[in-house]
Amino acid sequence: MLVQDMEQIFQDKIDREIKIEPKDWMPEAYRKTNLRQISQHAHSEVVGMLPEGNWISRAPSLKRKAILLAKIQDEGGHGLYLYSAAETLGFSRDEMINDLLSGKAKYSSIFNYPSLSWADMGAVGWLVDGAAILNQVMLCRTSYGPYARAMVRICKEESFHQRQGFDALLVLSRGSKEQKAMCQDAINRWWWPSLMMFGPKDSESTNSDQSMKWKIKRKTNDELRQQFVDMIAEQIKTLGMVLPDPALKWNEARKHYDFGAINWEEFWNVVKGNGPCNKQRLAARNKAHDEGDWVREAAKQYAEKKRNRAKEQAA
Ligand SMILES: [Fe+2]
Ligand SMILES: [Fe+2]
Repeated sequence: MLVQDMEQIFQDKIDREIKIEPKDWMPEAYRKTNLRQISQHAHSEVVGMLPEGNWISRAPSLKRKAILLAKIQDEGGHGLYLYSAAETLGFSRDEMINDLLSGKAKYSSIFNYPSLSWADMGAVGWLVDGAAILNQVMLCRTSYGPYARAMVRICKEESFHQRQGFDALLVLSRGSKEQKAMCQDAINRWWWPSLMMFGPKDSESTNSDQSMKWKIKRKTNDELRQQFVDMIAEQIKTLGMVLPDPALKWNEARKHYDFGAINWEEFWNVVKGNGPCNKQRLAARNKAHDEGDWVREAAKQYAEKKRNRAKEQAA
């Protein structure tokens, strides 16, 4: 069969909403785009545990500590489902992890910002997980089967993450003068980086058209970003706080909130590795990997022992 015909069959399947599965024929660029996206997503889940891990030992109560621990543990689980989904595209987990540890692979730039106060745990849950959810709800219907199925479970857990973040901020927003100030400060610092999570403007996003045609994504970066602004601009009223954007205003004609210009220079600078915590995050992942070496070694030895025993019994 000609490649053109294979491509036609492939596109027809996508148009008819039939999921693409690991053993199906797929264009090389489709495989590569999914592999890049799913592995970057997995890395983001795992690196995303670091800014929050910073506050486990300093959570203000046992209840908050238990909630934060559960949330961070969920993120580790998300990373594992996603590495498994990415492996179906013919790249091993070891290779993916090596690319993360060497700095070759990217992860979401938001995690290169520091978590400076307890209120950051609220702001991360509410804003960062909130932005992630909008992207991920869309991905529950993405065309690659293993990715779509992983996202269904992840999304259920993400909504718990967002609510716990909002709840932590709500308590601070009703607290003392200092707690209110801490709450506002965290929102000020996390707002703009959260908007950057949706990626470059559609006019500057290189892979967007093809990804939409292949239904890897179903909404553009700008559509998702607008949806996020509209959602948060309403939710923040309950907190009695403000978003750090003087241009934020409801536009009756568009039926959306208008918002100010994003500092794309900052975005690209962090992507290139010059954010406040890029080096620290990679160093922490490398250290954890090195310290886990004995666990991998022990697992390997145990597997070998089991294999040998099975062989002896068979003989
Ligand atoms: Fe997650
Ligand atoms: Fe999350």
